[in-house]
Amino acid sequence: MNIPRHLAVIMDGNGRWAERRKRPRIIGHRAGARAVNICIDFCLEHGIEALTLFAFSSENWGRPEDEIGALMKLFMNALDREVDELHRRQVRIRFIGDRERFSDKIRARMTSAETQTRDNSRLTLTIAASYGGRQDIVLATRALAEEVAAGRLQPDQIDEAAVHARMALSDLPTPDLFIRTGGDHRISNFLLWQMAYTELWFTETLWPELDAATLRRALDDYAQRERRFGLTGAQIAAQPDPGTA
Ligand code: IPE
Ligand code: IPE
Ligand code: MG
Repeated sequence: MNIPRHLAVIMDGNGRWAERRKRPRIIGHRAGARAVNICIDFCLEHGIEALTLFAFSSENWGRPEDEIGALMKLFMNALDREVDELHRRQVRIRFIGDRERFSDKIRARMTSAETQTRDNSRLTLTIAASYGGRQDIVLATRALAEEVAAGRLQPDQIDEAAVHARMALSDLPTPDLFIRTGGDHRISNFLLWQMAYTELWFTETLWPELDAATLRRALDDYAQRERRFGLTGAQIAAQPDPGTA
Protein backbone atom coordinates (compact mmCIF):
# COMPACT_ATOMS: atom_id res chain seq x y z
CA MET A 1 0.00 0.00 0.00
CA ASN A 2 1.12 3.52 -0.80
CA ILE A 3 1.68 5.20 2.58
CA PRO A 4 2.10 8.98 2.83
CA ARG A 5 5.56 10.04 3.93
CA HIS A 6 4.29 13.29 5.41
CA LEU A 7 0.86 13.75 6.98
CA ALA A 8 -0.44 17.23 7.83
CA VAL A 9 -3.46 17.56 10.11
CA ILE A 10 -5.85 20.32 11.16
CA MET A 11 -7.10 19.15 14.53
CA ASP A 12 -10.51 20.83 14.50
CA GLY A 13 -13.76 20.40 16.41
CA ASN A 14 -12.70 20.49 20.06
CA GLY A 15 -15.02 23.37 20.94
CA ARG A 16 -18.06 21.85 19.23
CA TRP A 17 -17.38 18.48 20.86
CA ALA A 18 -17.63 20.15 24.27
CA GLU A 19 -20.56 22.40 23.34
CA ARG A 20 -22.58 19.36 22.27
CA ARG A 21 -22.06 17.99 25.75
CA LYS A 22 -23.01 21.34 27.31
CA ARG A 23 -19.49 21.62 28.68
CA PRO A 24 -17.06 24.53 28.44
CA ARG A 25 -14.93 24.56 25.27
CA ILE A 26 -11.76 23.93 27.22
CA ILE A 27 -13.03 20.45 28.13
CA GLY A 28 -12.96 19.78 24.39
CA HIS A 29 -9.37 20.95 24.15
CA ARG A 30 -8.43 18.65 26.99
CA ALA A 31 -10.09 15.71 25.22
CA GLY A 32 -8.33 16.80 22.05
CA ALA A 33 -4.95 16.40 23.71
CA ARG A 34 -5.67 12.67 24.03
CA ALA A 35 -6.45 12.42 20.33
CA VAL A 36 -2.97 13.79 19.58
CA ASN A 37 -1.50 10.65 21.11
CA ILE A 38 -3.75 8.43 19.00
CA CYS A 39 -2.55 10.22 15.88
CA ILE A 40 1.13 9.95 16.83
CA ASP A 41 0.76 6.24 17.68
CA PHE A 42 -0.88 5.69 14.31
CA CYS A 43 1.99 7.35 12.45
CA LEU A 44 4.59 5.33 14.34
CA GLU A 45 2.71 2.09 13.62
CA HIS A 46 2.39 2.84 9.91
CA GLY A 47 5.91 4.07 9.32
CA ILE A 48 4.85 7.61 8.41
CA GLU A 49 8.03 9.74 8.48
CA ALA A 50 6.61 13.16 9.26
CA LEU A 51 3.51 14.40 11.04
CA THR A 52 2.65 18.09 11.15
CA LEU A 53 -0.15 19.09 13.50
CA PHE A 54 -1.90 22.45 13.43
CA ALA A 55 -2.38 23.19 17.11
CA PHE A 56 -2.91 26.95 17.18
CA SER A 57 -3.15 29.43 14.32
CA SER A 58 -1.95 33.01 14.20
CA GLU A 59 -5.66 33.95 14.04
CA ASN A 60 -6.52 31.89 17.13
CA TRP A 61 -4.90 34.62 19.27
CA GLY A 62 -8.14 36.54 18.64
CA ARG A 63 -10.17 34.08 20.75
CA PRO A 64 -11.52 34.99 24.20
CA GLU A 65 -8.78 35.50 26.75
CA ASP A 66 -9.92 32.72 29.06
CA GLU A 67 -9.86 30.16 26.24
CA ILE A 68 -6.34 31.22 25.26
CA GLY A 69 -5.17 31.09 28.87
CA ALA A 70 -6.56 27.57 29.27
CA LEU A 71 -5.01 26.47 25.96
CA MET A 72 -1.60 27.75 27.06
CA LYS A 73 -1.88 25.79 30.30
CA LEU A 74 -2.80 22.66 28.37
CA PHE A 75 0.10 23.21 25.99
CA MET A 76 2.50 23.59 28.90
CA ASN A 77 1.16 20.46 30.62
CA ALA A 78 1.40 18.45 27.41
CA LEU A 79 5.03 19.48 26.97
CA ASP A 80 5.83 18.49 30.55
CA ARG A 81 3.99 15.21 30.30
CA GLU A 82 4.74 13.86 26.84
CA VAL A 83 8.23 14.87 25.73
CA ASP A 84 10.21 12.17 27.58
CA GLU A 85 7.97 9.42 26.26
CA LEU A 86 8.14 10.78 22.71
CA HIS A 87 11.90 10.90 22.99
CA ARG A 88 11.94 7.30 24.17
CA ARG A 89 9.97 6.40 21.06
CA GLN A 90 12.53 8.20 18.87
CA VAL A 91 10.26 11.05 17.86
CA ARG A 92 11.94 14.30 16.82
CA ILE A 93 9.83 17.24 18.02
CA ARG A 94 9.86 20.64 16.36
CA PHE A 95 7.72 23.77 16.40
CA ILE A 96 6.86 26.17 13.60
CA GLY A 97 5.18 29.53 14.02
CA ASP A 98 5.77 32.80 15.83
CA ARG A 99 7.29 31.83 19.18
CA GLU A 100 7.69 35.39 20.35
CA ARG A 101 4.04 35.47 21.25
CA PHE A 102 4.34 32.66 23.81
CA SER A 103 5.47 33.13 27.40
CA ASP A 104 9.15 32.67 28.26
CA LYS A 105 8.25 29.50 30.12
CA ILE A 106 6.55 27.91 27.14
CA ARG A 107 9.30 29.03 24.78
CA ALA A 108 11.93 27.46 27.02
CA ARG A 109 9.99 24.17 27.05
CA MET A 110 9.71 24.23 23.27
CA THR A 111 13.45 24.74 22.86
CA SER A 112 14.31 22.03 25.35
CA ALA A 113 11.96 19.53 23.66
CA GLU A 114 13.64 20.30 20.33
CA THR A 115 17.12 19.97 21.77
CA GLN A 116 16.37 16.75 23.63
CA THR A 117 14.87 15.03 20.58
CA ARG A 118 16.87 16.53 17.72
CA ASP A 119 18.80 13.37 16.84
CA ASN A 120 15.73 11.14 16.66
CA SER A 121 14.73 9.96 13.23
CA ARG A 122 11.78 7.59 13.48
CA LEU A 123 9.11 10.30 13.16
CA THR A 124 9.46 14.06 12.77
CA LEU A 125 6.60 15.61 14.70
CA THR A 126 6.11 19.28 13.90
CA ILE A 127 3.69 21.28 16.00
CA ALA A 128 2.41 24.38 14.22
CA ALA A 129 1.69 26.81 17.04
CA SER A 130 0.99 30.49 16.45
CA TYR A 131 1.53 29.51 12.83
CA GLY A 132 0.00 31.07 9.72
CA GLY A 133 0.69 30.07 6.14
CA ARG A 134 0.61 33.68 4.96
CA GLN A 135 3.00 34.72 7.70
CA ASP A 136 5.31 31.87 6.64
CA ILE A 137 5.35 33.31 3.09
CA VAL A 138 5.92 36.84 4.43
CA LEU A 139 8.93 35.72 6.48
CA ALA A 140 10.47 33.87 3.54
CA THR A 141 9.95 36.93 1.35
CA ARG A 142 11.54 39.19 3.94
CA ALA A 143 14.54 36.86 4.28
CA LEU A 144 15.04 36.96 0.51
CA ALA A 145 14.71 40.76 0.43
CA GLU A 146 17.33 41.07 3.17
CA GLU A 147 19.74 38.87 1.25
CA VAL A 148 19.20 40.92 -1.91
CA ALA A 149 19.67 44.18 0.03
CA ALA A 150 22.90 42.82 1.51
CA GLY A 151 24.14 41.93 -1.99
CA ARG A 152 24.31 38.18 -1.26
CA LEU A 153 21.54 37.30 -3.72
CA GLN A 154 20.52 38.56 -7.16
CA PRO A 155 16.78 39.06 -7.84
CA ASP A 156 16.98 36.66 -10.78
CA GLN A 157 18.23 33.96 -8.40
CA ILE A 158 14.84 33.99 -6.68
CA ASP A 159 13.07 30.91 -7.96
CA GLU A 160 10.73 28.33 -6.41
CA ALA A 161 13.60 26.47 -4.80
CA ALA A 162 14.93 29.68 -3.22
CA VAL A 163 11.53 30.51 -1.76
CA HIS A 164 10.95 26.94 -0.65
CA ALA A 165 14.27 26.81 1.18
CA ARG A 166 13.17 29.73 3.36
CA MET A 167 9.73 28.34 4.23
CA ALA A 168 8.86 26.21 7.25
CA LEU A 169 9.40 22.45 6.80
CA SER A 170 11.78 22.96 3.86
CA ASP A 171 13.87 20.00 5.02
CA LEU A 172 10.94 17.57 4.80
CA PRO A 173 9.11 16.11 1.82
CA THR A 174 6.04 18.29 1.21
CA PRO A 175 2.84 16.88 2.80
CA ASP A 176 1.41 13.97 0.82
CA LEU A 177 -1.86 13.85 2.71
CA PHE A 178 -3.80 16.52 4.58
CA ILE A 179 -6.55 15.58 7.03
CA ARG A 180 -9.00 18.00 8.60
CA THR A 181 -11.42 16.80 11.25
CA GLY A 182 -14.52 18.70 12.36
CA GLY A 183 -16.43 18.80 9.06
CA ASP A 184 -15.22 22.09 7.58
CA HIS A 185 -13.69 22.02 4.12
CA ARG A 186 -11.02 24.68 4.29
CA ILE A 187 -7.30 25.20 4.83
CA SER A 188 -7.63 28.01 7.43
CA ASN A 189 -4.18 29.48 6.69
CA PHE A 190 -2.27 26.23 7.30
CA LEU A 191 0.64 25.26 4.99
CA LEU A 192 -0.33 27.33 1.94
CA TRP A 193 2.91 27.00 0.01
CA GLN A 194 3.77 23.48 1.09
CA MET A 195 0.37 21.97 0.19
CA ALA A 196 0.32 22.90 -3.50
CA TYR A 197 0.01 19.20 -4.48
CA THR A 198 -1.12 17.64 -1.22
CA GLU A 199 -4.08 15.25 -1.30
CA LEU A 200 -6.92 16.64 0.83
CA TRP A 201 -9.16 14.50 3.04
CA PHE A 202 -11.95 15.75 5.29
CA THR A 203 -14.03 14.04 7.94
CA GLU A 204 -17.04 15.03 10.04
CA THR A 205 -15.38 13.31 13.00
CA LEU A 206 -14.60 15.88 15.69
CA TRP A 207 -10.96 15.87 16.79
CA PRO A 208 -11.60 14.50 20.32
CA GLU A 209 -13.42 11.52 18.73
CA LEU A 210 -10.49 10.63 16.50
CA ASP A 211 -9.65 6.93 16.35
CA ALA A 212 -7.34 4.69 14.37
CA ALA A 213 -10.24 3.50 12.17
CA THR A 214 -10.82 7.05 10.92
CA LEU A 215 -7.14 7.51 10.15
CA ARG A 216 -7.09 4.17 8.37
CA ARG A 217 -9.99 5.33 6.16
CA ALA A 218 -7.95 8.38 5.21
CA LEU A 219 -4.95 6.22 4.34
CA ASP A 220 -7.08 3.78 2.32
CA ASP A 221 -8.55 6.66 0.37
CA TYR A 222 -5.09 8.15 -0.20
CA ALA A 223 -3.78 4.81 -1.51
CA GLN A 224 -6.51 4.79 -4.21
CA ARG A 225 -5.69 8.21 -5.57
CA GLU A 226 -3.62 8.98 -8.62
CA ARG A 227 -1.35 11.96 -8.04
CA ARG A 228 -0.63 13.53 -11.39
CA PHE A 229 1.27 16.74 -10.51
CA GLY A 230 -0.09 18.40 -13.62
CA LEU A 231 0.86 15.55 -15.97
CA THR A 232 -1.41 13.04 -17.71
CA GLY A 233 -2.42 9.70 -16.24
CA ALA A 234 -0.47 7.92 -19.01
CA GLN A 235 2.70 9.85 -18.19
CA ILE A 236 2.37 8.98 -14.52
CA ALA A 237 1.82 5.31 -15.34
CA ALA A 238 5.04 5.31 -17.39
CA GLN A 239 6.98 6.94 -14.57
CA PRO A 240 6.08 5.14 -11.36
CA ASP A 241 7.88 7.51 -8.99
CA PRO A 242 6.98 11.06 -9.99
CA GLY A 243 8.31 12.52 -6.75
CA THR A 244 6.34 14.67 -4.38
CA ALA A 245 7.77 18.13 -4.90
C1 IPE B 1 -9.38 23.24 17.27
O1 IPE B 1 -10.65 23.15 17.80
C2 IPE B 1 -8.34 23.65 18.29
C3 IPE B 1 -7.88 25.04 18.17
C4 IPE B 1 -8.15 25.84 17.17
C5 IPE B 1 -7.04 25.53 19.22
P1 IPE B 1 -11.60 24.40 17.86
O2 IPE B 1 -11.42 25.10 19.17
O3 IPE B 1 -11.45 25.27 16.67
O4 IPE B 1 -13.03 23.70 17.84
P2 IPE B 1 -14.31 24.19 17.06
O5 IPE B 1 -13.93 24.29 15.61
O6 IPE B 1 -14.72 25.50 17.64
O7 IPE B 1 -15.31 23.10 17.31
C1 IPE C 1 -7.75 25.86 12.34
O1 IPE C 1 -8.96 25.76 13.04
C2 IPE C 1 -6.62 26.00 13.29
C3 IPE C 1 -6.38 24.88 14.20
C4 IPE C 1 -7.01 23.74 14.25
C5 IPE C 1 -5.30 25.09 15.10
P1 IPE C 1 -9.89 27.02 13.30
O2 IPE C 1 -11.04 26.51 14.10
O3 IPE C 1 -9.12 28.14 13.85
O4 IPE C 1 -10.34 27.40 11.81
P2 IPE C 1 -11.63 28.18 11.29
O5 IPE C 1 -11.76 29.41 12.14
O6 IPE C 1 -12.79 27.27 11.47
O7 IPE C 1 -11.35 28.43 9.85
MG1 MG D 1 -12.33 25.27 14.84
